[in-house]
Amino acid sequence: MEITGKSKIMFVLADPVDHVRASAVINAYFQSNGDDVAVSPLHILPGDLGAVVASIRLMRNVFGFGVTIPHKTQVIEHLDEITPAARMIGAVNFVKRTAEGRLVGDNLDARGFIASLAQHEIVVRGRKVLQVGAGGAGRATAFGLAEAGARELTIMNRDEEKARALAAAVAEHYPATKVSADHAEARSFDLIVNTTSLGMKADDPLPLDIDGIGPSAVVSDIIVHPAVTRLLARAAAQGARTIGGKPMLDAQMALVARFIAR
Ligand code: ATR
Repeated sequence: MEITGKSKIMFVLADPVDHVRASAVINAYFQSNGDDVAVSPLHILPGDLGAVVASIRLMRNVFGFGVTIPHKTQVIEHLDEITPAARMIGAVNFVKRTAEGRLVGDNLDARGFIASLAQHEIVVRGRKVLQVGAGGAGRATAFGLAEAGARELTIMNRDEEKARALAAAVAEHYPATKVSADHAEARSFDLIVNTTSLGMKADDPLPLDIDGIGPSAVVSDIIVHPAVTRLLARAAAQGARTIGGKPMLDAQMALVARFIAR
């Protein structure tokens, strides 16, 4: 890939940065899409974030930047505005530069997640959903599932107080969805979503017990690596449909590609 002065440049700000797989995942996506885009991960310490954002403002060929752990919330104070989605989720994962040079924080996690389900013809509207996890990614998927019309959304999390707080926030924005925080049996749900980090390491325990789910169930795991987590393998062995985290990432990059082409 040739990077020239005409290329559109994007950064991904992270600490640590080693896990950001720019060339294998992000650049590969844009290349296959025919976009003249180059993405570089930047290792930025939390205390330097404000100065870095101020510098990026001056870099006219940078159309935006991704932010990931631990900057997703802290970046907000350095931006000109944030979208309603980012405000609701309480975190930013993509900052776009407008034609006027304003930096606008958005959160593409929820839209990317729901788009990836739709692309795989997985229906959320009217369904009973069990979500495990109430961290940063889990906040986005919970709002996304309610927005997509889930009939019931049960959130379970190791820290139960976080599950209750998230359930209350989602219920406030989406009264049509019956939201609760509970430990529930997976087999009575249509769609089961793992948003915890359990499954990234080979020896992690399963995030929940899914024994007894049937072939009509769908199990989603937003972990990108490995592509098939132990949870997804167990679900497939029971005849359930499965979807991993890569489609969610691809759908977010499609949203970025659409922003660039505007
Ligand atoms: P992310 O931004 O990737 O969502 P996060 O905000 O740190 O990261 O959230 C991680 C999620 O994985 C949380 O739901 C966390 O549960 P707690 O809120 O109880 O911490 C969950 N998680 C991480 N390690 C876990 C473990 N060993 N057992 C159960 N849940 C775990």
